[in-house]
Amino acid sequence: MLTTTLNLDPVAPQTARFPPEAFDMLARLAENHLGMDFHKRRHDRLFLMISKRVKATFKQNIIDYLSFLETHPNHPEWIEIEQILTIQKTEFFRESSQIKFFEETILPEIKHRKYRDGDFKIRAWSCGCSTGEEAYTLSILFHQKFLPSTEWDVRILASDVHQNALEIGKNAQYTEESLHNVTREKRLNYFKNTGENYCVVEPLKEMIHFRKINLISDRYPIKTKFSVIFCRNLLIYMTPFWQNTILNRLRNYLEPGGYLLLGHSEYLADKKDFQLTKFNAFQSPIC
Ligand SMILES: C[S@@+](CC[C@H](N)C(=O)[O-])C[C@H]1O[C@@H](n2cnc3c(N)ncnc32)[C@H](O)[C@@H]1O
Repeated sequence: MLTTTLNLDPVAPQTARFPPEAFDMLARLAENHLGMDFHKRRHDRLFLMISKRVKATFKQNIIDYLSFLETHPNHPEWIEIEQILTIQKTEFFRESSQIKFFEETILPEIKHRKYRDGDFKIRAWSCGCSTGEEAYTLSILFHQKFLPSTEWDVRILASDVHQNALEIGKNAQYTEESLHNVTREKRLNYFKNTGENYCVVEPLKEMIHFRKINLISDRYPIKTKFSVIFCRNLLIYMTPFWQNTILNRLRNYLEPGGYLLLGHSEYLADKKDFQLTKFNAFQSPIC
């Protein structure tokens, strides 16, 4: 079994404002629904946000609200609570050293190996893609490296548990501020400035398929094997059980020689047959 050693956010839990019963209930819901370790979050802020939902849904108090969620697992209110419980922070070209390594070392290695084997299919997965910036970053890098040559067939699956985040990704419109890591040349090549914001160009959009997938669900609706899986800055918020379970599952979705990229504070302690290259990029055995 794979195990992880994760550096956790240095945030001291502040449980004072949560009634203990409500705290336990929320921790249970967060783990059962999302695999999250609630102890790793800033509780004061969560308490305020949840209190707003208690009011908005006309519930009597926080316990009443949480009991409602517990007994209505498919209610649309879950979309709101998922937004509160999850952290959507992301950006284009996030963790630039790892992305540079991916661009300059991993992608050429994949291209060389696949070309040699006559396999022109590349599949990548950004799981926990949030609002899509990570998936579009990959699409830019793939486009530069493999396209517009017609022999390569490149597709990216971008998944998240959060429906609203996925809608933003599908919409593919970003503010100028969010493009601060994107070079002028890439902005010109891959974004259309609409005056109000920047819209990702069609060839990149066509490469990506957005889909809602909860990584703690029993089964993922995926048949393909991936050359690359980006699972960054998501496991850090999960319980050790779900970190291990998800890593074990992702491992089975990699093709031989495929790469799993984790966030900078996430580490595959028991690598087994995976080889750590650099910058938290792990390669599965080639055969
Ligand atoms: C901090 S963002 C990371 C985004 C991107 N990977 C990055 O590194 O910039 C974490 C994302 O994981 C998603 N997430 C949390 N729990 C999840 C779960 N159980 N299944 C799928 N996605 C989940 C959240 O909705 C959020 O969008």
